Amino acid sequence: MKLVVFGANSPTGRLVTAMAMTAGHTVTAVTRRPADFPFCDHRVQTAAADVMDADAVDWVTGGHDAVVSVIGVPPSVRPVTVCSQATYNIVKAMIGHGMRRLLCVASADLDAADLSPAGLLRQRAIRPLVLASGSAVQRDVRRMENIVRESGLDWTLLRPGRLVAGSEVSDYRMTARPVPRPLTFRTDIAHALVREVTHGAYLGETVYVSSPK
Ligand SMILES: NC(=O)c1ccc[n+]([C@@H]2O[C@H](COP(=O)([O-])OP(=O)(O)OC[C@H]3O[C@@H](n4cnc5c(N)ncnc54)[C@H](OP(=O)(O)O)[C@@H]3O)[C@@H](O)[C@H]2O)c1
Repeated sequence: MKLVVFGANSPTGRLVTAMAMTAGHTVTAVTRRPADFPFCDHRVQTAAADVMDADAVDWVTGGHDAVVSVIGVPPSVRPVTVCSQATYNIVKAMIGHGMRRLLCVASADLDAADLSPAGLLRQRAIRPLVLASGSAVQRDVRRMENIVRESGLDWTLLRPGRLVAGSEVSDYRMTARPVPRPLTFRTDIAHALVREVTHGAYLGETVYVSSPK
């Protein structure tokens, strides 16, 4: 398949790119930093684009069979819109180009966070900046998930736990329900994305991906 990977130059995106090539796919790797992208292979081409730029997203998306997004942002105390705006732009481009298959990485944190008034009050008293920054990103990822679910596309949302380096693919689990305090090897979430884009076992589903502890 011809894949376009947004966030391809992230630690996870690089693994997705490598595993997709090994699986026989070709990859258009989207990054704002093409000079830093480490792959030089006939199966991968690099595209410089900012995902907040709808025209640029439209331009790089056309002509592919599927989209994989591992767009992410660091914690911020300011309002965050990158994941939702990027995904809006991607969905719009896909519909315009008649494309169907979309896989996005979200986060198991969305369930772990206690966003009830009592939980927010408790955390606010303890770690005000951490709360403000974490919840801003979480709110944006929730908006992203809603855009994906309402897109009408053949979507899959993958929710990893805290990402940690992994040297190889483990015996990871994909489940409909979260596991307590999950962690996920980057090799595992990358493998899950490439496997899912190939097999489509979780169309229209939100799936937790967790590695053994
Ligand atoms: N880290 C964790 O513990 C954790 C936990 C759960 C879920 N996740 C999710 O897992 C995914 C991968 O995480 P990661 O830690 O490997 O990567 P990451 O450090 O979050 O990097 C994400 C990528 O997003 C891209 N990006 C951000 N803003 C962009 C923009 N305006 N235009 C174009 N690209 C933009 C960056 O690309 P360029 O800088 O190359 O342009 C970057 O490579 C993310 O979706 C993250 O939210 C992470």
